[in-house]
Amino acid sequence: MATAQQLNTQFGINKRLRFSDDAPVKGMPPDSRPAGSLGAASGLIIAEIDNAQATASLCLQGAHLMSWRPKNQAVPVVWLSRDAKLAAGKSIRGGAPVCWPWFGAHAIESGFPGHGYARTVPWQVIESGSEPDGATRLTLRLVESEKTRAQWPHASKLDLTVIVGETLRMELTTENTGATDFVISEALHTYLQIGDIGAVRVTGLDGCDYWDKVGSSTLRKQQRAITFSGETDRVYINTSAECVIEDGKLKRRIHVAKSGSLSTVVWTPWAEKAGKMGDMGQPEGWREMLCVESANAIENVVKVAAGARHTLIVEYRAEPVQ
Ligand code: BG6
Repeated sequence: MATAQQLNTQFGINKRLRFSDDAPVKGMPPDSRPAGSLGAASGLIIAEIDNAQATASLCLQGAHLMSWRPKNQAVPVVWLSRDAKLAAGKSIRGGAPVCWPWFGAHAIESGFPGHGYARTVPWQVIESGSEPDGATRLTLRLVESEKTRAQWPHASKLDLTVIVGETLRMELTTENTGATDFVISEALHTYLQIGDIGAVRVTGLDGCDYWDKVGSSTLRKQQRAITFSGETDRVYINTSAECVIEDGKLKRRIHVAKSGSLSTVVWTPWAEKAGKMGDMGQPEGWREMLCVESANAIENVVKVAAGARHTLIVEYRAEPVQ
């Protein structure tokens, strides 16, 4: 794998895109950054983006976007746990994990990792550049290995392009490079920063069917906006709607608009489950995050025909509420 220095030579863009294995996390106020220098001990490389519109950090392991703060926002829009740890082969708590080629538990093999392996394996940088409006673009490709092929014996390519500006755009493209069709489920499992879970509501899913995964899985229908008063773990199906998180405490709205995705997952662990997870940030980090995940899951799994491509695209933006 390339070193940070080699990546800077090939893909760095002045101060706007730098690679480091000893990086602070851009886009987070100093008092909410995870302790220490995240990259150093793990040897993992982090891409640091800092342009006129926004700051962001992305770990090459997992192509895991860790933070994003548009410069017109005092508080980051993408949440990273204060207790997030960087370690080879481990998923990072917060940011935008890439769940692929399956979402949730594997359909047959209980020993395979939940949410697939893409979020815990190395990816390589294949392209970088600047958009006409000054946003910074970075494309990574998942690196296959014997271990990944043992879990996914299909000829495929998986690329993630991240465009960091006043809006954040993520494009996850699956290409079937083999001669037989395959089926994937997937998600961009984004943790969004909120003021307090009790003071937000999510609009855009009124009337949608969802699988309620708290307790035994039950199919229900959403009535009106979503509000939160306990553990919530739902897979909304057959919806490509834009969702809006209305945040009364931070006085802003976060818009999540998508294409190539028919499922939306809404998840908050609440106190008991967050306590068991152990890396949600003390004392009550879980209250300051909400996952609104753009996915294809359950009845919305995607068949990718031999030679074909499928792309899931999500755009995030934040606006103040007066
Ligand atoms: C959500 C799932 O997408 O991810 C939840 O719907 C799960 O059931 C959550 O608990 C977190 O998963 P993980 O593997 O990152 O701890």
